Amino acid sequence: MLATEIEYAIETQDLVKIYKTGKVQAVNGLNLQIKKGEIYALIGANGSGKTTSINMISGALFPTSGTIKVLGHEIPRNRRLITNYIGLAPQDYSIYEDLSLEENVRFFSRLYGMSKGDFEPKFEELLKILRLEEKRKALVKNLSGGMKRRTSIACSLIHSPKIVFFDEATVGVDPVLRSFFWEYFRSLKDKGVTLVITSHVMDEAERADRIGLMRAGKLIAEGTPDELKQKHNAATIEEIFIELSEGEIIDE
Ligand SMILES: Nc1ncnc2c1ncn2[C@@H]1O[C@H](COP(=O)(O)OP(=O)(O)O)[C@@H](O)[C@H]1O
Ligand SMILES: [Mg+2]
Repeated sequence: MLATEIEYAIETQDLVKIYKTGKVQAVNGLNLQIKKGEIYALIGANGSGKTTSINMISGALFPTSGTIKVLGHEIPRNRRLITNYIGLAPQDYSIYEDLSLEENVRFFSRLYGMSKGDFEPKFEELLKILRLEEKRKALVKNLSGGMKRRTSIACSLIHSPKIVFFDEATVGVDPVLRSFFWEYFRSLKDKGVTLVITSHVMDEAERADRIGLMRAGKLIAEGTPDELKQKHNAATIEEIFIELSEGEIIDE
């Protein structure tokens, strides 16, 4: 069904979101082209529109205007077609507190129509990578915040999606574990998986293939970490961010 010649995993054109109850235009003409197999970091201060963008692209939220294509399919019109190809670990993750970690991941696997035979090996792989082996039977409500977040990541990856969205998924993650995550991200990339990662933590972005810097619902800079640093004559992405943000405060 999905043509292999499609170069871009994600394309958006003039994407706009105005929330009915919102005071500002949350996304204000976003143009993205993310290649297949790319690790793309969408970074920006809180309120810059990252979550709204990700939610529209993954089909969870209707845009006000503009177009979105995911693996060549127009979204939201064709969002059901791409459900099984997408994994989303939302910023405000929704997992069931009264179920165990394993029951939660199993629940998501059923939503994606996975067979038991496919579930077991993938689940074991994810438990190992996410360092959750000892917690598989624990009720989610008894897990730490970081472990809940990792459970949400497991739910988003169980069906081996072609495109993965991690919305602030590595926030507050221990640096050693974060390194393991990035190793895993790259192994996914090597298999052709596209990863879109949002973060308001700048050093997170340095590891991505390409970075899009958002401010007030728009991209204000884009490129590989090296391209951006060269262009702005900066040593770090954080420096560029500070320069382009004109004093805007990250209120985390
Ligand atoms: N459900 C909502 N209703 C109204 N306004 C919202 C809603 N969600 C986000 N916003 C507003 O939209 C803007 C962008 O928010 P968001 O996409 O969450 O940014 P980010 O993820 O970069 O922090 C902010 O001004 C935020 O207050
Ligand atoms: Mg957000």
